[in-house]
Amino acid sequence: MNGLAAPSAVGNGAEGGLDLSCVRTIDGVDVMGKRVLVRVDFNVPIDGGVVADTTRISRALPTIAKLAQAGAKVIVLSHLGRPKGVPTPETSLRPVAAKLQELMPDTVVRFIPAAIGEEAKRGTEALKHGEVAVLENLRYHMGENKNDPEFAKALAALGDIYVNDAFSSAHRPHASVDAIADLLPAYAGQLMMAEITALGEALEKPERPVMAIVGGAKVSTKIEVLTNLVTRMDQLVVGGGMATTFLLAQGKEIGTSLCEPDFVPTAKDIMALAERSGCEIVLPVDEVVAMKLEENAESRICPVDDVPADAMILDAGPDSLANLSRRLSAVRTVLWNGPLGAFETKPFGAGTLALAREIARLTREGKLISVAGGGDTVRALNVEGVADDLTYVSTAGGAFLEWLGGHDLPAVLALARSGARVQPN
Ligand code: 3PG
Ligand code: MG
Repeated sequence: MNGLAAPSAVGNGAEGGLDLSCVRTIDGVDVMGKRVLVRVDFNVPIDGGVVADTTRISRALPTIAKLAQAGAKVIVLSHLGRPKGVPTPETSLRPVAAKLQELMPDTVVRFIPAAIGEEAKRGTEALKHGEVAVLENLRYHMGENKNDPEFAKALAALGDIYVNDAFSSAHRPHASVDAIADLLPAYAGQLMMAEITALGEALEKPERPVMAIVGGAKVSTKIEVLTNLVTRMDQLVVGGGMATTFLLAQGKEIGTSLCEPDFVPTAKDIMALAERSGCEIVLPVDEVVAMKLEENAESRICPVDDVPADAMILDAGPDSLANLSRRLSAVRTVLWNGPLGAFETKPFGAGTLALAREIARLTREGKLISVAGGGDTVRALNVEGVADDLTYVSTAGGAFLEWLGGHDLPAVLALARSGARVQPN
C-alpha cells in the first residue's frame, strides 16, 4: 500500500477542499491490548444462511488480521441489508462471523448478538489480546441510520480506537462511519486507504490519455458522474441504456429502447460541457437489437442510424466494440463503471463481457491502467474470471459513483476531520 503522501493529497476534486493528507493510517499505531473498533462493509449476499460471496470479507481481512496480530482486541462493526431498526433472521451477521472464522482459522472469532448495550459490553470485555468479535447488525438501531450522537457514543464506549475500512459505505452519513469518528481517535484501514488512493489517482492525476466508460440503464442516476467526468477525462464512453438518451439527443431513431426523454436536455448539456472541456464523448456506432428483452430473444445487429421503429437496443454491436478496443489501446488509463447492455439477460451481456476481457488483456500486457467498480461491472469481471487482472477493482457501488460524481464522502471527511484535530497546520 502506498499511503497518501502529504502534502499532495489525492482526492476526487470535491468542492469542499477535502484534505486527505489529514487521514491517518493505522501504520505504527500501538494497538497492543487496545479495544479497536473496526467498521467494515460486510454487506454481503447471504443465501440460505450462508455467505454467497466473500469478496468484501476477504478485502477487509488484511486490516483485521494486522490488528489481531498486533495484539488488539478487534471489534468488528458492520451493517447487512437495510433492516431499518427491525432485526430479521436474514440480516443477522452471525453467518458472516462464521465465514470470517473460516477465513482466519488461527484466530478466535466470536459473534456477539448485540451491537450496543450490556451484552455487547460483556462480550467485548471477555475478548483476549488478538481475538476478534463481530457485533450484530448496526442497522438494528435507527440511531445508526440517523447518525445519532447517542448511538455513536454507545458504540464508542466499546472501544479505545476506531478504524474505518468500509469505503463502500463511506457515502452514508451514518453513526458508525461519521459521528463515531469524533468520539475516538480515528484511522483509515488498509482497504479504505487502497480505495481512496487508487480512485483518487485515477480521477485526479491519471496517466493520460484517460478514458472513462460509463454504462448502466439511466442517465438520471449518473448525471453528476457524467458531468464531473467530462471535465476530467479525455474521452467519455457512454454505453448501456443511458446511451439511447444521448442518441435521442442527437436526433437518432431509437425504436422502443429504454430511454429517458425528459433527460434529453441534460444529455445535451453534458455534450456541450464535454465540448467546452475538450472531452470527446463516444457513443455506440452499431447495436444489437431485438423486439423484446427476453432470454435468448431473436436479435440482430444494426447500425446506429438504422434502428427499426419496433426494435429495442439491448447491447453494443461488434463495430462499437471494435471502436472501443481501438480507443482503449490508445489510452493509458481507463475508469469503468456500468454495463454496455442488458447485462443480466442472455445474450445481451456479450458486449460487457467482451469489454471486461479486453480491459483485462490490455492491463495484463502492461499497456493500460484500469480501475473499475460497481455491482454489474464487478460481476462481469468475475464471470470472465479477470477481476484480478485489473489494476484496481473497487468493492464499492454507491460510494464509487458518489466519488466519481465529485462528492465528498461523509466517512472520508470524518477521518480527515479526526486527523486534522491532532495535526493542526
Ligand atoms: C453497498 O452495498 O453498496 C453498501 O454496503 C451500502 O449499502 P446501502 O446502499 O444499503 O447503504
Ligand atoms: Mg447498494
